[in-house]
Amino acid sequence: MTMRTNSKDRALRERAREVIPNGMYGHESVALLPEEFPQFFSRGEGARIWDADGNDYVDYMCAFGPNLLGYRHPDVEQAAGAQAALGDTLTGPSEAMVTLAEDFVGMVTHAAWAMFCKNGSDATSMAMVLARAYSGRRKILVAHGTYHGASPWNTPNPKGTLPEDRAHIIYFRYDDTDSLRDAFRQADGDVAGVFVTPFRHEVFEDQFLPSAEFAREARRLCDDADALLIVDEVRAGFRLARDASWSLFGVEPDLTTWGKVLGNGYPISALLGSEKVRAAACGIYVTGSFWFSAVPMAAAVATLRTVRTSDYLERMIARAEEMRKGIAEQAAAHGIGIRQTGPAQMPQIFFDDDPDMRRGYFWAAAAVRRGVYLHPYHNMFATSALTEADIARTLAATDEAFTELKRAWATIPPQSNPAVLARIKAKLESRAR
Ligand SMILES: Cc1ncc(COP(=O)(O)O)c(C=O)c1O
Repeated sequence: MTMRTNSKDRALRERAREVIPNGMYGHESVALLPEEFPQFFSRGEGARIWDADGNDYVDYMCAFGPNLLGYRHPDVEQAAGAQAALGDTLTGPSEAMVTLAEDFVGMVTHAAWAMFCKNGSDATSMAMVLARAYSGRRKILVAHGTYHGASPWNTPNPKGTLPEDRAHIIYFRYDDTDSLRDAFRQADGDVAGVFVTPFRHEVFEDQFLPSAEFAREARRLCDDADALLIVDEVRAGFRLARDASWSLFGVEPDLTTWGKVLGNGYPISALLGSEKVRAAACGIYVTGSFWFSAVPMAAAVATLRTVRTSDYLERMIARAEEMRKGIAEQAAAHGIGIRQTGPAQMPQIFFDDDPDMRRGYFWAAAAVRRGVYLHPYHNMFATSALTEADIARTLAATDEAFTELKRAWATIPPQSNPAVLARIKAKLESRAR
């Protein structure tokens, strides 16, 4: 293991603390991560990232999703650069917006139109406004503990928001048709829309796909009530399918929300809708100063072209499955019980008998020290840029990390980060609901 330094990262954290609340905020903060995890990065290429001190990592977070095809993918960079040479944020949109909408609508079966914004939270909040505009009804059904963004109606930290912000949200248990039916009953004819993610992909939890029966029942209940079925693809979009993810079940949503991968890292998100919602979409007021910027749209046109015309998905899945198999074999050889859940290309890895997650944290930190950026509580992401060499380096690091864990097994101190313990407790309580 080469010696890694972190002095520049530490200095940046100090400077940040003076001028940025907590020095960092939100889901990309390192507040819930072990010491070894760098906060600041200087560059990325393919499946690799370099931290501020110049240490490199095979990166399994992909910028929390956006890096679908590889950092600085040549076709995406070329398209973005060509548009940047002409202009980005202008008095109105560029041709790229129309091309992007045509291409996107052509790829996603349920979609007849597209609207573009910046972040996933813009898209999910716009979907909520549109669902209410469509029917004039109030209630929005959301699965317990599901993240749909940082808006007051959904933030996992309600500090600074009002119960009234969530007054018309009714919660159901994900993948539980009885619970969903019950939520419809509670709403008593007032349901505007139902939000679901393509699969359960929450922090601090094992992941799972819903049953086809749940997906079909959600569609049927929405049809019966003339409510909108909204599938939030912000995290999973184009990592399961080249269409909306529930095409796997033959279920067509009314609205889908997209972000993260759409511009392969350029800031753009989208709301796609079916024909029946078009008239309502014409009537709502949604906009932003940067929503029509042309560079991210040009990047998205190039990203979608690669999604349509390359084997990026099959390559990504093949590499991710190689990694999953290798890690499973290593864990078994070391006699350590682990759970690898969700699709291999969006893996969550937890250790058995690890209620305070001290073992998972120890293992991920040991991998980070060896130049492989794994995450101890958030689902990870594969990129299609992963090479055989990246996987070989990853598996060498994870094997050593297992060895180190085994050696330290009985002496690893309990989880001492109070913020992590609070999140684990909150998850347990939400599961009991
Ligand atoms: C399912 C889902 N919806 C919405 C969002 C919000 O996206 P953003 O962070 O771009 O606002 C996220 C972000 O992680 C997400 O995973």
